[in-house]
Amino acid sequence: MAILKIARMGHPVLLQRCLPVDDPGHPDIRRLVADMIETMEDAGGIGLAAPQVHVALRLFVFRLPAARMARPDGPGTAGQEGDPPGEADPAAAGVGVGTGAAPAGPVVLINPVVEAADEATVLGWEGCLSIPGLRAAVPRHARVRYRGVDCDGRAVEAEATGLHAVVVQHENDHLDGMLYPMRMTDFRLLGFQEEMTRFAPVLAGEA
Ligand code: NI
Repeated sequence: MAILKIARMGHPVLLQRCLPVDDPGHPDIRRLVADMIETMEDAGGIGLAAPQVHVALRLFVFRLPAARMARPDGPGTAGQEGDPPGEADPAAAGVGVGTGAAPAGPVVLINPVVEAADEATVLGWEGCLSIPGLRAAVPRHARVRYRGVDCDGRAVEAEATGLHAVVVQHENDHLDGMLYPMRMTDFRLLGFQEEMTRFAPVLAGEA
């Protein structure tokens, strides 16, 4: 396995519409997935999409922290990819179909389809390993359904809320060349993590 270089915002690979994976079980794909999980964990992230490691294919990996806030309460505790695990309520992180809980281990989603489960949206704090040091409040669907396959061709399907839903939407956006600033509606809520941690609760109250 190897730790891969992460593309930063400004690199054109992050703006591409990625291509479907023809053979999820191909050794090259298995190696890529293993390297992406290692890279994500090395970087302290909770999600990583293939274009972020310069591969324009429709797959991403994520691993939800064991315990996490469902309702983000600030940019320092509820960011996205680049965020260290925080204090939280595990029951609120999301709902895995069939298990009633958010997935604990790393999840591999190849050729994913993500759909809103209802009309509700929420504003939550996100970061991105391709936009290091920044945090922003980003509107997302509150509840989504997603499906795809893993490297063994097994169906992966779940309904997600809370951080689980945010991560899946954020990573899926990467596959269409979409970075979180492109989803933002209030750019006052974009800033450096350190400053946002200190001041954003005030800003969020105004938003
Ligand atoms: Ni990202």
